[in-house]
Amino acid sequence: MLPHKQIELKLQAAVRVLLPDADTAAVLVRPCPDPKFGDYQSNALMPLAKARRMNPRLLAENVLAKLDVSDVCERVDIAGAGFLNFHLKDSSLAQTLDAAARGEHLFFEKTAAPKTAVIDFSSPNVAKPMHVGHIRSTILGDCLARALRLLGHRVVTDNHIGDWGTQFGMLLVGWKRELNSTALDTDAIGEMERLYKKISAESRENPATLEAARQELVKLQNGDPENLKIWRKMIELSKKQFDAIYSRLGVKFDCTLGESFYNDRLKSSVDELLARGIARESEGAIAVFFDEIPQLKDKPALVRKSDGGFNYATTDLATLAYRMEKWQPAEIIYVTDGRQQLHFQQIFAAFQKWQSAKPQPAIPRLAHVWFGSILGEDGKPFKTRSGETVKLADLLDEAEERAFRIVSEKNSGFLEPQRREIARVVGLGAVKYADLLPNRQSDYVFSWDKMLALTGNTAPYLQYAYARIRSIFRKAQNESANSQPPAALTLSATEEIALAKHLLGFGLALEAVAGEFRPNFLCNYLFELAGKFTAFYENCPVLKADEVIRASRLVLCDLTAQVLKQGLDVLGIEVVEQM
Ligand code: ARG
Repeated sequence: MLPHKQIELKLQAAVRVLLPDADTAAVLVRPCPDPKFGDYQSNALMPLAKARRMNPRLLAENVLAKLDVSDVCERVDIAGAGFLNFHLKDSSLAQTLDAAARGEHLFFEKTAAPKTAVIDFSSPNVAKPMHVGHIRSTILGDCLARALRLLGHRVVTDNHIGDWGTQFGMLLVGWKRELNSTALDTDAIGEMERLYKKISAESRENPATLEAARQELVKLQNGDPENLKIWRKMIELSKKQFDAIYSRLGVKFDCTLGESFYNDRLKSSVDELLARGIARESEGAIAVFFDEIPQLKDKPALVRKSDGGFNYATTDLATLAYRMEKWQPAEIIYVTDGRQQLHFQQIFAAFQKWQSAKPQPAIPRLAHVWFGSILGEDGKPFKTRSGETVKLADLLDEAEERAFRIVSEKNSGFLEPQRREIARVVGLGAVKYADLLPNRQSDYVFSWDKMLALTGNTAPYLQYAYARIRSIFRKAQNESANSQPPAALTLSATEEIALAKHLLGFGLALEAVAGEFRPNFLCNYLFELAGKFTAFYENCPVLKADEVIRASRLVLCDLTAQVLKQGLDVLGIEVVEQM
């Protein structure tokens, strides 16, 4: 077991002895923000003392008297208002690394309590190009799925594509009247987008077109075979284009159950909401009211319009019910932009009421993982030079092209296919990392130069750090200096110990990603790891060191490379052996 876990379990046990009623799940041990004060810290005693009107320092002293962590800690200090600071023993540090070197762990543990999580992400709309807004959902959602899976949870990734709605009326009119089959063959979504724009513009001028679109929609809703056939074709062609992007990004979905999948469940969902008294009629429509929730007081969720039609909220409620039935998840995570916050607040609140009305309510943790916008360097929404929305496929092409130029300049000795492959990995990595690094709720400025830089907190910097470590091993092999791994590591230099201690924090960074839905914790962890490696490598000779030290340091290099690679993999970013 990793040292911080051992400390945590013992601390929880000590707290239970003194405060049998305390909820010790919140008694956590985390890395010390400043190594000056120790390696790990717990601030959990202060709120426990406060709730019981106890003196926090006194509680800390009493807990310490019941706590024996001498096998992993050199000492424990009480600091400030009642923090506990733990100083790790060198021997415990070395043992943990030895176990990692033997392949027993990579500084994280699979959870003892696996849960099922459904992640709803990407979810683009049929017949419309994926734009950079969808990139954030795709990249963030994929990262959360990877983190949860690595920690041993069951994950269902579901692409809730927008494949139903009033837009199909216009699309059907356009398809029947103006379809350009050649254009459809080369860029299906582009052609469908053209049709949609043309007919919707025409409908604004001409009421007859608007009426034609309405009629096509009604026919589709009533199951007209011809319209159904065209609609299915539109979905199929769109999915093909989406899949091309997913495969480039290395993103996979367990299922793609679009909005239309829930069509036959909408009426029964609303009927049930009515029967249970959760929804009621209001001005001809049906809505769920939230009088008891201050921020939703005047914001009912409409679940049936006065014309009898269902809407986005109805679909999401039916989707939730289906997911509960099908997977019994402990957690459902929705990744969309911040503009959908009210929608999800309403859905979550309505679902809570719906479940609570059942004899055995099962209420999962519902999380709306929302994100801000991507801005251009002028601070305005990110657009192409001609002012259009940037398409995801074009963006990825440009990333690879720019990376290719940089790679070719730096590595003119590599053959072109090798440079292309490095450019693919670096270009896509740069785009993904730039998206995951900022606090997801803030807007960020899209800057090619910044994200592709080899210095600073970027993917290329981390990929380069990895490749550099791999080159040490190539060199070691050439010099036949590849010694046997040592039975135990020797850690003595300050930078060496700092690097080793940082490796121990990998699992905590992963847990922060999975638990708080914040990939930026992992980005920053890896950036610091690369920095600590550089300090180590500049100050501690590896290949030129004496046999025993060399063997030990090579292990440290290898573990660092493994963590970099695994960490980047959680971010959905690949590495190359040479760049
Ligand atoms: N298709 C929607 C959009 O592009 C996103 C759907 C998100 N998921 C959901 N269950 N509502 O904005």
